[in-house]
Amino acid sequence: MSDAPIGVFDSGIGGLTVAAAIRSELPNEKILYIGDTARVPYGGKSRETIERYSIEIAQQLLDRGAKAIVIACNTASALAAPRLRELFPDVPVRGVIHPGAQAAVAATRTGRIGVMGTQATVDSGAYERAIADLAPDAHVYSVACPLLVPLIEEGDPVTDQVLSRYLESLVEHNIDTLVLGCTHYPLIKPAIARIVGPDITLVDSAHNCALALNDILAANNLLAPASATGRLDVILTDTAKRFLSSAQTALALDIASVTRWNNE
Ligand code: DGL
Repeated sequence: MSDAPIGVFDSGIGGLTVAAAIRSELPNEKILYIGDTARVPYGGKSRETIERYSIEIAQQLLDRGAKAIVIACNTASALAAPRLRELFPDVPVRGVIHPGAQAAVAATRTGRIGVMGTQATVDSGAYERAIADLAPDAHVYSVACPLLVPLIEEGDPVTDQVLSRYLESLVEHNIDTLVLGCTHYPLIKPAIARIVGPDITLVDSAHNCALALNDILAANNLLAPASATGRLDVILTDTAKRFLSSAQTALALDIASVTRWNNE
């Protein structure tokens, strides 16, 4: 079982930012990644729909032999993680909200933290709760950025005007740390940094998620042997025109194979 792949999923290409961190922290692990490019974005959908999509994909990953599930999507982590843990109690399930909250709490000096995310993530209040658990005195200011995921999936460079509009209110709150609370956003980190300026630290979940995954695999005796060769195989539910070029350019990721799964 320890030689089995880690199942990772997202609504689209954004979760590859987490897959990249897992590849670099756990180089011996095989990753099987599902990007639900047929149904992206999830961020404007209801809890019921996000749960249903997440269950279908987790089941598909398990049917293909996954030893653990990483929900590399903040929206699905915020809305569907409890249901996945309930349905698959024997499989380690790791989401990205807690790792993102940890990164924010470690980075902030003033306790004033901004969170940008999808509408569903922001409405869920998941980051507020996770940060309050770790740092009860912190002040959290969140903003939903519904246009960003479709733009990123299209490979659009994302205009500064769209970002400025979303980030204006956060900057006014004098935050010193900004959580990129959607796994797509690290793909446009330079643009976000340009808008908020050098005094605000940008953090995301990817690195801490990979570290937490390492711990959970070790605790369950599921770490791949040191002699194993890691790889990343990608399954998409629809074509993603600019998928390979944006992921490979931005993340310098080596993808062993890309196949199609028709989940209609
Ligand atoms: N990468 C997903 C997230 O982290 C995007 C959600 C969406 O498809 O709207 O939230």
